[in-house]
Amino acid sequence: MGSGFQVEQFFMWATSELATAEFERIVEAHNRTVLEDEARLQLESEIDAHKRIEVTLRERARRFRELLDALPAAVYTTDAAGRITFYNRAAVEMWGCRPELGQTQWCGSWRLYWPDGRPMRHDECPMAVALKENRTVRGTEAIAERPDGTRVSFIPYPTPLRDGSGALIGAVNMLVDITDRKQFEERVMMLAGEVVHRANNLLAVVQATVRLTEARTVQELKEAIQGRIQALGHAHALLAQSRWSGAELQQLVEDELAPYRRSQEPRARLSGPKLVLDPRAAQSMAMALHELTTNAAKYGSLSTPAGTVEIEWDYGPNGRFVFRWAEARGPTVRSPRRRGFGTSVIVGMIRDQLDGDVRFEWRKEGLVCEINLPADKLERAPGISA
Ligand SMILES: Nc1ncnc2c1ncn2[C@@H]1O[C@H](COP(=O)(O)OP(=O)(O)OP(=O)(O)O)[C@@H](O)[C@H]1O
Ligand SMILES: [Mg+2]
Repeated sequence: MGSGFQVEQFFMWATSELATAEFERIVEAHNRTVLEDEARLQLESEIDAHKRIEVTLRERARRFRELLDALPAAVYTTDAAGRITFYNRAAVEMWGCRPELGQTQWCGSWRLYWPDGRPMRHDECPMAVALKENRTVRGTEAIAERPDGTRVSFIPYPTPLRDGSGALIGAVNMLVDITDRKQFEERVMMLAGEVVHRANNLLAVVQATVRLTEARTVQELKEAIQGRIQALGHAHALLAQSRWSGAELQQLVEDELAPYRRSQEPRARLSGPKLVLDPRAAQSMAMALHELTTNAAKYGSLSTPAGTVEIEWDYGPNGRFVFRWAEARGPTVRSPRRRGFGTSVIVGMIRDQLDGDVRFEWRKEGLVCEINLPADKLERAPGISA
């Protein structure tokens, strides 16, 4: 059979009504298979793409978490209800505990406080506000307490997270530890307060010195005032040297009596334990020492070449501290009839500033002055060290 027959036959068949319907059915079936194949192929490639996207997203999330974990700041996320969905290593360090994912709400810290020390409920913390009010919260501070009792001051940065349509889906928070800055600020404030207090005190003492110093001539008056202000200056310089942490008693005494200790046979002898005076005690003791020395030089043992002064200090019983000034081998001493600025300053400084007592014993062979005060008024307060 030639191909002409086949073509002819097919033509005849194809032109019959039946054949037309059959042809259409075949064509339709073919088209359907092609479409199904195409759809299957498309679906397969879509599944592949989906898988690829999923893997990429998972990989990205993993890298993102690694990145967050490496951050030195505490970071955590929550869902829209405030339940924690992620936290990094720095957050665990700051909180001192691990919150339960999907359970713990608002913040993973053990306890929270406001900057003034009042307890802060977790549901009122900045992150809770950010989620409840669907807004970014800035400019707040808080304190977290760990289960071991240690506290961390921090600034939170809670920020709502929204989906494409703008609906709230959760929040991210970063907590920046500011404990060191806070401690530094407190120290600076305390030091500034201490300096202002000292300066006020110093001015009051200088004013009283000028008002109460008496002398027969203007020159003597000038010298007396100058000497007194110098004594304050010495104490101040010693305190400034130690950045207001305190001044050594031995150093104060040596500075004041330096002119009488230069010879081989020093006329002023000192003995006592090493002791750092707090700024208030240093100022008071410097003034008292200056008045004792000036009086000794004017009327007492240091007014003659052979006279001596023995200075001793030590801790006594019942938390007391005793400082003893004993003159000898000077002119014969009699009880004074008047009290001038010197003795008033000694008594005033020791009694009013340091809660102490002063006893003068006017012995014939030389004055003995005993200062007795609570030791805790004298020594440097631990908080003031710079
Ligand atoms: N170390 C001493 N030895 C002997 N007498 C003293 C001694 N210290 C003080 N006096 C006597 O006590 C008096 C009172 O001393 P105080 O220091 O109070 O006043 P002042 O020295 O006279 O004057 P001011 O101190 O105001 O310059 C003195 O005038 C002196 O007579
Ligand atoms: Mg005097």
